[in-house]
Amino acid sequence: MSETAEKTQTKAVYVKSYGCQMNVYDSQRMADVMGTEGYREVATPEEADLILLNTCHIRERAAEKVYSELGRVRVIKEEARARGRKVMVGVTGCVAQAEGEEIVRRAKVVDLVVGPQSYHRLPDLVARAGVTPGVVDTEFPVEDKFKVLPAASEARTRARGLTAFVTVQEGCDKFCTFCVVPYTRGAEVSRPITQILAEVEKLAASGVREVTLLGQNVNAYHGAGPEGSEWTLARLLHRLADVPGIARLRYTTSHPREMSDDLVAAHRDLASLMPSLHLPVQSGSTAVLKRMNRKHTRDDYLRLVDRIRQARPDIALTSDFIVGFPGESDADFADTMDLVRQVGFAAAYTFAYSARPGTPGAEMDGHVAESLQTERLHALQALVTAQQQAFQESLIGRTVDILFEKAGRKPGQMVGRSPYLSPVQVIAPSSVIGSIVPVRITGAKTNSLDGVLAADAHMMAVHAAE
Ligand code: SAH
Ligand code: SF4
Ligand code: F3S
Repeated sequence: MSETAEKTQTKAVYVKSYGCQMNVYDSQRMADVMGTEGYREVATPEEADLILLNTCHIRERAAEKVYSELGRVRVIKEEARARGRKVMVGVTGCVAQAEGEEIVRRAKVVDLVVGPQSYHRLPDLVARAGVTPGVVDTEFPVEDKFKVLPAASEARTRARGLTAFVTVQEGCDKFCTFCVVPYTRGAEVSRPITQILAEVEKLAASGVREVTLLGQNVNAYHGAGPEGSEWTLARLLHRLADVPGIARLRYTTSHPREMSDDLVAAHRDLASLMPSLHLPVQSGSTAVLKRMNRKHTRDDYLRLVDRIRQARPDIALTSDFIVGFPGESDADFADTMDLVRQVGFAAAYTFAYSARPGTPGAEMDGHVAESLQTERLHALQALVTAQQQAFQESLIGRTVDILFEKAGRKPGQMVGRSPYLSPVQVIAPSSVIGSIVPVRITGAKTNSLDGVLAADAHMMAVHAAE
């Protein structure tokens, strides 16, 4: 077959992800499900017959991004049409769920709008939109989309490399008053153990060494076990640690209220459970936490941090913060700064509160002026960056296990990941890729580390002594 004949037979899909890691995972599954329909995945929208924007609704700026992107996509679609080629455009993800038909009204370029619980129906929806553009599916169906979505293709699992995400839980019943996720992702659902195990075993067989379990409230996981009982996240982690080839496990994102004793103990008992934990607290003020409906106090969080550090003293804690939530006073903000100083985070995401339509927070009194939000954000960011730098520097001189993933930018340099997630650059033979090798950390920047292979460091020490 000539190359041109091949091209006319194969359609191409381009998926762009915004927002959280669950969207990244979902984008891969959407590419997989379209793969079963003869679509290959491409890296640029210009090459695609189907362009999917997998969107995020968490803050106003994230949600608005999709409309500017749709402006660019319109140009691509029109240019393709001028050359006689039809391009279809879909909006998926959390903006799709939240805005539904409104998107089609606002942006005529859009052929289909698909919410996160309908991705298994994508081929059918694309076919329908090919006949009549403007298809919208934002139902929360009762069937299990994970059961219907195809297992990741062999080629894709091979291409994924050494680390992979696996969604184990989706949705949220917590209803924090600032947050859209319970509305865009629906109620909490846990995938059954056998499904997760099959996916992880497949990933391991294709060379994956590190798996991150994903969920909006991943530590609330309560999936059906093979023998009919319910399994906790801790029990799932213990089981996955036994999968041959899987050397490292992580999970994200956790809610402080769901850090059960067995999960804390897993951080003590499971060597393959990496010593880093993302544990969003949002605020250090109990009064603000109450208005946020977080259902935990400042002291609950501090006590929890103590329990976790008792189980795993070297754990690197990271967190999320919102500043300028309605009613946040100077004293409330001082409490947040104080909590950060007390805990000492390895890193943190900081956000200015963004009022989201339909959430209780958007109706609350005590609006904080944007200038004050920005001032607080800068103060918090400065503190967090200093802590991040200090954490990185605390690793200098230590020997840590690095999972080597790829060649670095400089000749002879390989890049791997520390147990604490930061990338590490090391001069090493390319044969280290895929292995976990002890490395002595020699230098620290805010976002990455430098090191030498521990074996080399040992040789250097011997030579120096001679
Ligand atoms: N499920 C996770 C977080 C999901 S959203 C959890 O429970 O923590 C990721 C982060 O975005 C949140 O932790 C919060 O810090 C931030 N965020 C969510 N809604 C926001 C809003 N309306 N304004 C600003 N930041 C927000
Ligand atoms: Fe949003 Fe709160 Fe649910 Fe996290 S726990 S997804 S912040 S409602
Ligand atoms: Fe955004 Fe939806 Fe994730 S709102 S953060 S893409 S769950």
